[in-house]
Amino acid sequence: MGASADGPIGVFDSGVGGLTVLAEIRRALPAEHLCYVADSGHAPYGERAPELVRARAEAITGFLIEQGAKAIVIACNTATGIAAAHLRALHELPIIAMEPAVKPAAACTKSGVVGVLATSGTLKSEKFEALRGRFHGPVQVLTQPCPGLVELIETGDFEAEALRGLVADLVSPLLERGADTLVLGCTHYPLLHGLISDIAGPGVRITDAGAAVARHVRNRLAETGLLRDADNTPGDQRCWTSAAAPDASAALIRRLLGAAVPVAKLPC
Ligand code: DGL
Repeated sequence: MGASADGPIGVFDSGVGGLTVLAEIRRALPAEHLCYVADSGHAPYGERAPELVRARAEAITGFLIEQGAKAIVIACNTATGIAAAHLRALHELPIIAMEPAVKPAAACTKSGVVGVLATSGTLKSEKFEALRGRFHGPVQVLTQPCPGLVELIETGDFEAEALRGLVADLVSPLLERGADTLVLGCTHYPLLHGLISDIAGPGVRITDAGAAVARHVRNRLAETGLLRDADNTPGDQRCWTSAAAPDASAALIRRLLGAAVPVAKLPC
């Protein structure tokens, strides 16, 4: 069966981080139906074996296609590096992936030093090494792996002292080395935008790729004739979680989305 413009866009991440991308897609494409999978039961992808991340990406993509998805958004930098090419080889539908926003950061730095915060998995990937290689030279692209950060974000307690301490420890070395632009290279980190900006201070610019990905989704759907008519009723949203405590996970998803969306337990 061919994909239909009325089908949902399937979006997934290792947890709640991809909701930052979902929010941008919702802003850019209000008529689209959206299906979101938070694979919180397997977070953090950044610290897992690539084979496991690839297998999860494949299973979740299959599940979203069963829900009628007309396109898939890998709202996760780590899964992009590990599984995007594999998913594209398996499926014909548009598969849109993430890339840390190094390009816009390199274009706007004044100090010539950009700091990228991302998972160890992303920073180790060949895809990231190639991206860094495109810009490193004219500007200095510093990298900072952030083990432990996604786990703290997944608890949903953004006021925790431990979270503030860890963010300060991660951001300070980049600032000390002259970074005036920070790239949030994991979709969980924009949830901490206020905290990071508070720690970094007013002179530091913070970028992420969410809005650019939403524009890319719109372009791919337009090219493939799959955009849902904007005159239609507003699109709906449905979510699934693989968290061991699905009720708490559902409450966090609803809080972050600011909406009473249905959240079910992921069957795969
Ligand atoms: N939000 C994800 C990313 O963009 C994954 C974080 C993780 O699970 O380690 O990389």
